[in-house]
Amino acid sequence: TCNLKTQGLPVHPTPPASCPHSLSALPGPTNWPILGSLVDILRKGGLKRQHQALAGYHKQFGKIFRMKLGSFDSVHIGAPCLLEALFREESNYPKRLEIKPWKAYRDYRDEAYGLLILEGKDWQRVRSAFQQKLMKPSEVGKLDMKINEVMEDFIQRLDSVCTEEGRIADLYCELNKWSLESICLVLYEKRFGFLQPNLGEEALDFITAIKTMMSTFGLMMVTPVEFHRGLNTKIWKDHTEAWDSIFKTAKCHIDRRLTKLSSKDSEDFLCTIYKDSKLTKKEMYATITEMLIGAVETTANSLLWAIFNISRHPTIQRKLYDEIQSILSPDQVPTAEDIRNMPYLKACIKESMRISPSVPFTTRTLDKETVLGEYVLPKGTVLTINNHVLGSSEECFDDWSEFRPERWLQDKNTINPFAYVPFGIGKRMCIGRRLAELQLQLSLCWLVRRYNIVATDDKPVETFHSGTLMPSRDLPVAFLRR
Ligand code: HEM
Repeated sequence: TCNLKTQGLPVHPTPPASCPHSLSALPGPTNWPILGSLVDILRKGGLKRQHQALAGYHKQFGKIFRMKLGSFDSVHIGAPCLLEALFREESNYPKRLEIKPWKAYRDYRDEAYGLLILEGKDWQRVRSAFQQKLMKPSEVGKLDMKINEVMEDFIQRLDSVCTEEGRIADLYCELNKWSLESICLVLYEKRFGFLQPNLGEEALDFITAIKTMMSTFGLMMVTPVEFHRGLNTKIWKDHTEAWDSIFKTAKCHIDRRLTKLSSKDSEDFLCTIYKDSKLTKKEMYATITEMLIGAVETTANSLLWAIFNISRHPTIQRKLYDEIQSILSPDQVPTAEDIRNMPYLKACIKESMRISPSVPFTTRTLDKETVLGEYVLPKGTVLTINNHVLGSSEECFDDWSEFRPERWLQDKNTINPFAYVPFGIGKRMCIGRRLAELQLQLSLCWLVRRYNIVATDDKPVETFHSGTLMPSRDLPVAFLRR
């Protein structure tokens, strides 16, 4: 379980506020009728710059403020002490903001909910079925050879698409294909061939379905999904068709995996979970599908930023390369065990995720009245937890804008754990965290061993928000073979 002990967090509860104020006393940007602060956000560069606007509001209004965007009303928190207070008050079944379009599809097709959308006791039951196998480093370590198998193909792929100058035309697309191939091998025990020069029909359809599903749910988050379903709008039809295809693929490969392996006395992690947990097949389909959706772009995006960050810091990259060389002999394939002996590599990934988190915020819907700082917030309040602002706080990180992996390696680690939450926090923290970390560590190890990753210019790269934080232009990096 995600309790205090397993997270190694210090216990120093925040004293209760002496005279808490109500929700309506919270500061925040001007709240116009109907639109709320939408106009101000648009004026500040639109939704793609919302993370910068929110960071600006935190500077202006402090640790906690309230903002409405249309009908979406949320209290934003951007200070470790508030996150700690929230964590101490966490109930047994924390909730995030509902993803109604996903729920609507499952209800429509009589499919189950997975961890991203489940709530209450059902969420807890499914979560605990997967928790041990996914959150224990020793269990996740057993997946290292699967990750390496895909990584070997990825390096070949990069070699083949690299120009003489070391440029890769669509690096983000390549990274997404790597991440998808990798998670499909872990979850479906199936190689789709996303890294092959010519994608097969199944691989192409699968990529298209995921892209369509992701690009059609945003609008149905801000307009009533019942309306779309009732009128059978194009967006609803596209969304439904995309999920149909995603579920069809999931069922086919999960059924195959569970049948094939249940006949043997296998160590296979999905079979063990299925056998031990009494989850239904439907619950397995939904949970595994949502894991895949939660995994692909987040992991690809985090590796993209790690590549960028080390390209801008040749001395750090050299130190990282030296560490890798000191642990691995020339043809040795890195294992999870080897990574354990590479603290600098781990620190580089951590630092990259601090300074460039791929998921800049997560949410909580309070299921009871909760006191945060000086405010008493009623049940039902939606909180936005701003990892991006937390990771870039000068109070918690000296020279926060500097990429400095060494800060994670000081003898006396004084970093406040509530200031570094790129995978969220508490019982509902990302269940793929350990897997993602191992994937990122192994892949950075492979990349730095093979290439000197260099910056091709030194102009700033801005970030745009589009679900994940994206670079504003193609990354100015080149991969030079060592
Ligand atoms: C939840 C980030 C990789 C599956 C989350 C949350 C964040 C996050 C911020 C919300 C946590 C919260 O509300 O406290 C990331 C990042 C990743 C990553 C940055 C990669 C670097 C993965 C992978 C998987 C995965 C590889 C697949 C196993 C999930 C699931 C949830 C989740 C199922 C919902 C958990 C629950 O509510 O119980 N992730 N994630 N994620 N993630 Fe990840």
